[in-house]
Amino acid sequence: MDSMTFVLFGATGDLAKRKIFPALYNLYLDHKLPESFSVIALGRKPYSNDEFQTHVEEALKTFSRRFIDDHVQVADFIKTIRYHILDATNVEGYQGLLELVQQREKEFNLPENRLFYLSVGPEFFDVITLNIKESGLANTKGWKRLIIEKPFGHDLQSAQDLNEKLSKAFDENEVYRIDHYLGKPMVQNIEALEFANPILQTLWNNEYIANVQITASETVGVEERARYYDTSGAIRDMVQNHMLQMLMVTAMHLPKRISAKDIRYEKRKIMESLRLLEKGEVGLQVIRGQYAAGEIKGEAVIGYKEEPGIEETSTNDTFVAARLWIDDSFWSGVPFYIRTGKRMKEKSTRIIIEFKNPLKDLFLNQNHNEETAPNLFIIEIGPNTGVSLQLNSKNLVNEGKVEPVRVEFSADQKEVPEAYELLIFDALRGDSTYFAHWREVELSWRWVQPLLEAFEENSIPLHSYPSGSMGPDASHQLLEEDGFVWWD
Ligand code: BG6
Repeated sequence: MDSMTFVLFGATGDLAKRKIFPALYNLYLDHKLPESFSVIALGRKPYSNDEFQTHVEEALKTFSRRFIDDHVQVADFIKTIRYHILDATNVEGYQGLLELVQQREKEFNLPENRLFYLSVGPEFFDVITLNIKESGLANTKGWKRLIIEKPFGHDLQSAQDLNEKLSKAFDENEVYRIDHYLGKPMVQNIEALEFANPILQTLWNNEYIANVQITASETVGVEERARYYDTSGAIRDMVQNHMLQMLMVTAMHLPKRISAKDIRYEKRKIMESLRLLEKGEVGLQVIRGQYAAGEIKGEAVIGYKEEPGIEETSTNDTFVAARLWIDDSFWSGVPFYIRTGKRMKEKSTRIIIEFKNPLKDLFLNQNHNEETAPNLFIIEIGPNTGVSLQLNSKNLVNEGKVEPVRVEFSADQKEVPEAYELLIFDALRGDSTYFAHWREVELSWRWVQPLLEAFEENSIPLHSYPSGSMGPDASHQLLEEDGFVWWD
């Protein structure tokens, strides 16, 4: 891996503390950082270098999935970090930053490979990128890359504007748009499950699959993010990015090779075939909800409108379910259902593939008139990670009744790397497979846009659901219309 400088904007923020530094530290423990590596940590807070390094050490102790209490070793990792105070909106300060980067490059004998990581609010994405360009930081003899966090735009137009601005400083192949769901090991595993198993590959189409269900349910509420969340809602916070990315990964066709170019091409093709909704039809295919008071795991919780910072009149969506159609020869006729929400019964992200069940009546006589259950292929993405297949089998101790059984595989949680470790490692080595290409983002916004407008105009119902449930009844009815149920 190339030696490089890692320039982190927003280094004193929450994401840096919880995810980015712990990820770098775990890569360090696994010897996955480049031989020579310099981190320039940028923020506005008046830390001295020593103070900042102590702050990072504390963050590692609290948030890293592994922490080896060996001061020498931690110090060895931390000494790669240099804190620098910068007002990122003011181009003048960038001269000092450039000098620091160059000084460290000299000191560590680094080639001018520079990775800029924008872990800052979206309002700063364009100004920072512009300042990187204007200041000459981007004029390197080596390579340059930009990692950018979500949200990428607030709607289709703002996403296009942002991309236009970024492209003045970075080419598409230099931009690494983070969607942390793409970093989840089980999301990355979907391609192997589908393409490395001929039995599944053969069945992965509309001849055998009845429907696909993608659920990301959370038990947390709005937390301390009222300002952001109330203008974003589940639609922007989860659907436009994570849910549609999981849909793309599940539905993509066999790529020519397992490479960033081919995989992203296949994902893009899915998005190009995704049927767009007219604003007037949104209510038929999409359910939106907002949590009311309720109980989660025995604890009473307040409703969304009672949350601090939320107006009583808020019509923000904390739940979205939708039925999507991919109009291509593989998927035509197969509904893809997605649902995501806050304050639901459990924290769980999973994808369930329900297979068609043409012989469901065959055992009616032996089974007290009960149909046999469909085969399900279940991909548990988090917090549990694993795969299971629901088959039917005679219960050998219950009069041979044909019943569903699960064949399961699960991974040991502690050993599974975090999404940020995988993503940062890929960005360090220049592999963009699990980052969102601009066209994926743009096409996702294109699909979401009429929903945003219908929500904005309140032209579809906003269903209330009790905290601790699996969302509004209307979301169950959506599947019942097609003769299906959500598999919980
Ligand atoms: C983030 C959203 O992108 O994903 C949060 O902004 C959400 O609102 C989170 O809670 C869920 O991620 P995970 O990894 O916990 O499923």
